Amino acid sequence: MKLLIINGPNLNLLGKREPDTYGSRDFQSYFQELRKKFPAVQLEYFQSNVEGELINKLQEADADFDGIILNAAAYTHTSVGIGDAVKAISVAVVEVHISNTAAREEFRHRSFIAPHAKGVILGFGLQSYELALHSFVGFSG
Ligand code: DQA
Repeated sequence: MKLLIINGPNLNLLGKREPDTYGSRDFQSYFQELRKKFPAVQLEYFQSNVEGELINKLQEADADFDGIILNAAAYTHTSVGIGDAVKAISVAVVEVHISNTAAREEFRHRSFIAPHAKGVILGFGLQSYELALHSFVGFSG
């Protein structure tokens, strides 16, 4: 199984950025741990701060991957374009968030992605990504 994690704006700053909300671990080291935990999965990672680059990647990944784990960060709450891209592609997309966006400011309650996602996982810290991986490969073992 080939899965792609896509992170949106400011998630390149994980570890340094608002550690009370997002934790003190950088994503690269967590990603390496995920790769070790799921050796049977071909796991790839893409991050961009640019909306159009995220849309391009979603379109490209459609033909190449069995599933996408998407944290579009702030664009989740603003981007009709990313929502439309998720709707347009046929590969399953699981939306994830590190923080529990439902418990935060009202503008974070809206997601343009959720209506087109296979499912949404939020609020488990970096473990949200691992739960999303399990949603593709199964929960046993
Ligand atoms: C986030 C939540 C978003 O509201 C925020 O803009 C982010 C990160 C999360 O993973 O908790 O940048 O997507």
